[in-house]
Order: sequence, then structure tokens, then C-alpha cells
Amino acid sequence: MSTARRSAAEAYEKTPTRIFPNSATAAKELAAEVRALIEERAKQGKNVVLGMATGSTPVPFYRELIRLHKEEGLSFKNVVTFNLDEYYGLGADHPESYARFMADQIFDHIDIPKANINIPSGKVSSDQVFAHCREYEEKIDAMGGIDLQILGIGRTGHIGFNEPGSSRDSLTRRITLDRVTRQDAAADFRGEENVPHFAITMGVGTILRGKKLVLMAWGDNKAEMVAKAVEGPMTEAISASFLQGHPNARFYIDTGASRELTRAKLPWLVGPVSWTPRETRRAVCWLGNQLHKPVLKLTDEHYNEHGLGDLLSEQGPAYQLNIRIFNQLQHTITGWPGGKPNEADTYRPERANPYPKRCLVLSPEPQDAVVSMGATLERLAEQGHDARLISLTSGNLRVPDSEADKFAETLKELAGIVSDSSVWAPQTAYAEQALKMLADKGEFGADTPLLRQLKALILRGELRDAANACHLTNDHIVFLDLPFYEEGRYRRFKSTQADVDALAALLREHKPHQIYATGDAADPSSVSGICFKVLEAALKACEGEDWAGSCSLWLYRGKEKPLEGHEIDMAIPLSPSQLERKGRALSRYGALSSLERASPESNRQNAANYDALGLAQYEAIETFQRWRRV
Ligand code: F6R
Repeated sequence: MSTARRSAAEAYEKTPTRIFPNSATAAKELAAEVRALIEERAKQGKNVVLGMATGSTPVPFYRELIRLHKEEGLSFKNVVTFNLDEYYGLGADHPESYARFMADQIFDHIDIPKANINIPSGKVSSDQVFAHCREYEEKIDAMGGIDLQILGIGRTGHIGFNEPGSSRDSLTRRITLDRVTRQDAAADFRGEENVPHFAITMGVGTILRGKKLVLMAWGDNKAEMVAKAVEGPMTEAISASFLQGHPNARFYIDTGASRELTRAKLPWLVGPVSWTPRETRRAVCWLGNQLHKPVLKLTDEHYNEHGLGDLLSEQGPAYQLNIRIFNQLQHTITGWPGGKPNEADTYRPERANPYPKRCLVLSPEPQDAVVSMGATLERLAEQGHDARLISLTSGNLRVPDSEADKFAETLKELAGIVSDSSVWAPQTAYAEQALKMLADKGEFGADTPLLRQLKALILRGELRDAANACHLTNDHIVFLDLPFYEEGRYRRFKSTQADVDALAALLREHKPHQIYATGDAADPSSVSGICFKVLEAALKACEGEDWAGSCSLWLYRGKEKPLEGHEIDMAIPLSPSQLERKGRALSRYGALSSLERASPESNRQNAANYDALGLAQYEAIETFQRWRRV
């Protein structure tokens, strides 16, 4: 691919970047390119050397390669691979090792000769690390270098595990993982404390020796780093930024990951804009933020001087434009998420009737909805709606062994104090079995079905407790336990029709007037990303049914980037005491990540943002976007 800039919109991008509608389309295109390369080399009797990445990002690409092998006969006999990295300390049989990941996700499903697979060893002894890394480098060169290197990007901007501080010329070596990277791997390892501290990774210099580099990124969470890497300066603080200096590197990203690029975020700076209501609101909010001025104080000059003359001539003068946008923002604020009964609703986010409403709040994992919209949940219940909290998956993989151990020990002890011990014999046997399974599997072994079930039950208890704190009674909490989660592991889940059927059945049973969901902006391989796709398919299956046509759909943000001013369609203000109650509800969960625990802070920030635009000052705000189905 040429590195020449193809349009004014890409003027800010120093590494060529393509934005795809979704990861599947990008993966398909890249896989077709790889296929052509493999076949061309096969004809010449030569090998292809591919650099491989792990994590959730390349999964759609690997699935497409497997499909090409199984359905279209693509052979990988002439393919040699080098993986970017491996956790130091983990053997190839460890369930979270990258060796195991690669076997599960691709190598066991294609005909690549085992001898052609190269992955750094996580088990090499400390005094051998240096020699091992040097041999890895030499082997890459001996094979003729890497023809195409696949990359993902971490939240620290790393490629491979080249954390901030890695130099442009760094080679394969042992590194210390950044705290953020370890936080991101916490769910895989059931707790941050279990994530290895070290890894062996190809260096930035090793990666840049590759002939072609393709960095993929999906979902909102990657947007900020992608923008810094593509548009910012080349810096050791973000190793992905070094791709700018490579003659044949490109980014393949989806719309979520593109959101912070100038062409997506500030399109008026790079070309003509069609001023839809959303784009107009985006521009006005941006201008206010930029100048630290409330919307109503923006002047014609402010618009002109900041590249918004075009908007001004179309929709100005500033005075009128400001009032219009101010009113729109004002109308997003409501204390009545389910609509205010017996009141005019022309300017309210939600319709007044019917009242009460049947509301389904979908939580991908048991903690998500309470974390993101606990106060709104409380309002729905208090305002008399039939609000149900649906935990779509059991979340059992998040529960640390210590919790299961604690529960089993308590059960055993309890059984020991009842006078007729024979009555509790089954419970004692269960507790002993669970304890034995925990001991047998060691620190990182896979959980047996019994342990996964026990952990799911522990989380059910926590969710009930948290939901009760939001004034929901137990009969309003539903545990759906979607099968994709029960059968999978983080970063490699795969949904099937069974998931769609289960959710469609639930929708048909409840015939909701309102649905709250999340995951639209998430990495498509994450639990919330998969749950969102399942919801889309379930709603499609219910199309044409009476309730479905009039059901309103509201999106909240979970772990992804919070909604920005122009994206918010409903803002639910929280008083100081409501925020305090939300904090108490969150404290009922045993294993929240630091990001989840920080949710009240992010609610406060939402309020500060509204305040800065000149709206009323609230303690905190939970935000929602209307989902317009296409
Ligand atoms: C993995 C690797 C990392 C990941 C990055 C993103 O081999 O080298 O750089 O690509 O951490 O991880 P995911 O794709 O899980 O978001």
C-alpha cells in the first residue's frame, strides 16, 4: 500500500489508516491479502514468514484464516510464524500462556507444520533469557525476516509488550509489564495479583524490521491510543507511534477505534461537513470546551476563529445557534428515566405513556449495570416501573479462587456444627469436593464445571445485594447465564444461535417498553461487545412483534469511553445522597476493577462537563444515548 496521503481528511494521520465498519470486514480483507501472499509464495516454492499477535484483537482475523483453510482449502504448509511475545514464567501448557492461546485460536485448526511455529519461551531460566532472545532475533533473520507482522495496541500504546520507555531500536528482551497492561489482563487471570509481572517481547526495532506491518484495533477503548499513535509525535512513550517511521505500516481500525482521530472528532478541520443535528451539537460543545466558555457565551468571532465559519453561515448567527443547542442539552436532563407520567413529553427524552413501563436493564456481566446506571435503576424502581435487572452472563470467570475457597470452608464448617451431621452429608461432600478441586487445579488451572457454578452463585449473591441497595427486589433480578460465556474464556468467546434464542425468549416473555443495554462501542470480542451483538440479533428475531415496534432502546457506557456532550440524549442527575447510595451498592461487589470502582467519579465528571457548558450544576450525572436502529 502506498504511503501517500489519499485525502485531506487524512492529512493529520502520519501512518496510513483505514477505517472499516467493523472488525469482521477488516479481518476478511487482511486475511484475503495474507492468502494471496501464501499462495503466491507456494507457487514459487517459497515460505511466507508471518509475525503473529495474541489478545482479542487478532481473533476475528484468525477465525477468517481458519475458515479459508477449512472451507476454501488454503494450506499453511509454507508458513513460518514468529509470535510477538509471551508471559515470563508461564509454560506452554498454562491456560493463559500465549503458546496455548495460539494453539487454541489458530494453530490447532490449520495445517501449519509445528516446526514452523516460533513463540518466545516463558520458561527459559533467568540466566538464559539473554541468549534465548538473541537466538530468537537470529532465527527471524535466518528465515529471511518477517513478511507481514500483525499487531494490536495496548492501552499504554504498546506493540508487542513494548511498554512506555521502550526505545526505537529495542530488540527481543525481557520486560516488566506496565500496571495498566496488568490491569487489562486482570480478568484473564482472575485478579490483577495473579497477572505475571514480566514478559519476553520482540523489541520495537525487531518489529520495525518487518517488511509490512498491520496494526489492528477495535472499539472505543482503543480510540485515544490510536489517535496518539497515528497523529501524535513519534515517542518512546507510545511504541505504536514508531510505525510512523516505517515505509509500509498501516492501521486497520473500526469506527469505534477511529473516534479520536481528527477526521472523526473534528471533521470541520479537515473538510466539508454535512451539519446534521448531532454534528452541530458536537461542534458547539467542542467550541465551548475549547474556549472554556458556556454555550450561551460563544460569539460569531469564536466560531469564525475556530474553523466553524461554515457552520455559522449555515445555522448562525451565534446567538441563535447557541440557544438552540443549549435548549437541546437542557432537554436531555430529566429525573424521570421512564418518562414522567401525566406530563407533556414533547421535550422529554422518554415518552410519558404507557405508565408504568416494563423496563429491562441488560447487564453483560453481573456488575456492569449497577456500576454504570445504578442510580437510574433505583429511580426506575422508585418511580413505580416494573424494572428488571438481567444479568446476561454469570461472570464466574471473574471470581477469584479465594472466594470459592471461603464459601466452601464456611459450608463445611456449618455442616460440622449441625447436631445431626448425617443430614448435612451432601453439603459436606460438596464442600470437600470443591476444596479438592481448588487444590488440584493449582493456581492457574481451569475451573471445573462445579467450581464455575459455585463462583457464579457467589456472584449472584453479590448482584442481589447490590441490586437490593438500588431498591430492586430479588424477584426482579434475572440470571440468564448465556451459554457463550459458560463455554468460553476471556478474549476468545464466541456466541452462537443458542445465545440469541435465549435472549429473544426473555424479550418475548417480558415484552419491554424500554431496554437499557451496553456494548455498542466495545471491542467485539469482549463480553459486552458480544452481548450487544446477541441483543441486535435477538431484536431482529422479534421484529414485527407488537411490543418490539414501540420499545425504546437506551445505551449506557460501561468500561468504554464515557459518552460526550453531543452524544448524550438522556442525562439523569444524581444528588449527593443518591451518589452515596450508588457507592454503597458498588461496595457489595467483591471483585470490582479499579475502573469500575471509579464509576462515581466518572458520574461526577459528567456533571462537571454539563456545568462547564452552562447547564445547571449537579453533583453527578448518569448518561444515556438513544439507540437508533438502522
Ligand atoms: C499480544 C500483544 C499486545 C496486544 C495488545 C492488545 O501479543 O503483543 O500488544 O496486541 O495488548 O491486546 P488486546 O488485543 O487483547 O486488546
